[in-house]
Amino acid sequence: MSIAAAPSIMERLKAETADLHAAAETHEFQKNLVKGELAQDAYARWLGQMFLIHRALERRLRDLSAKHAGAAALVRERHMQEPYLREDLAHFGADPDSIAPLDATRRLIERIERAWMTDPVALLGFHYVLEGSNNGNKFIAKALHRALGLQPGPGLRYLDPYGDDQRAVWSQFREDMNAIDFDARERDAVVEAAKDLFRAIGELSSDLVAACAPSGAAACAQPPRPRCPHAAGR
Ligand code: HEM
Repeated sequence: MSIAAAPSIMERLKAETADLHAAAETHEFQKNLVKGELAQDAYARWLGQMFLIHRALERRLRDLSAKHAGAAALVRERHMQEPYLREDLAHFGADPDSIAPLDATRRLIERIERAWMTDPVALLGFHYVLEGSNNGNKFIAKALHRALGLQPGPGLRYLDPYGDDQRAVWSQFREDMNAIDFDARERDAVVEAAKDLFRAIGELSSDLVAACAPSGAAACAQPPRPRCPHAAGR
């Protein structure tokens, strides 16, 4: 009788967060983003919150890499998104150092700090979700390029940090994550952290819709474009 091999950590992460990924993709804020229907202000507000999250996480990923060989091999300097988010925010005239966290962002940063204090290896579960989200972010960058007229570069750096290297960077990440010698408890902690991060991004998406305006979701969307007078009667 053959015994089935235990799933790798990347197989577990993908399978055990699949329903949360589906929920993230269908949240109205994400749908507006991917359809290129988000107003520029709402996009810049989202970048501001992602900046606060990445700054908090990347600081602790560096700390973890200094004491954990697996993390040191996995976490690459090129994964660090804080500089790109700073560039994007500067493009929209926002000062990254004066952005206030929304409630969901504040709670997530507290969760990151708690992981660092009590179970630092769980930080790699957070890193998985944000690094993996680059797979979908590339499509969002294309939509915003068309919708907001943003050119590749500042304004879109966070959404497309690797350009043509996207698949190669993700495949290296998968290999490096699978090479880490987690014990059973650590594997569970990494998967639970990934689930928490997905949930937190869902909560943030809802906070962002609420922050658009008292009138809610409609105000997140771009105002309708004026009709070209030459199109009249067509
Ligand atoms: C409209 C929004 C989104 C779209 C269209 C989208 C699309 C995608 C696509 C096409 C992939 C690659 C699937 C594959 O090659 O197997 C992917 C993977 C992934 N996405 Fe998303 N995504 C979206 C939102 C998000 C969000 C909000 C997050 C989390 C913050 C996220 C996290 C991930 C992760 C972690 C993976 C890697 C899954 C794995 O292979 O382990 N995505 N996404």
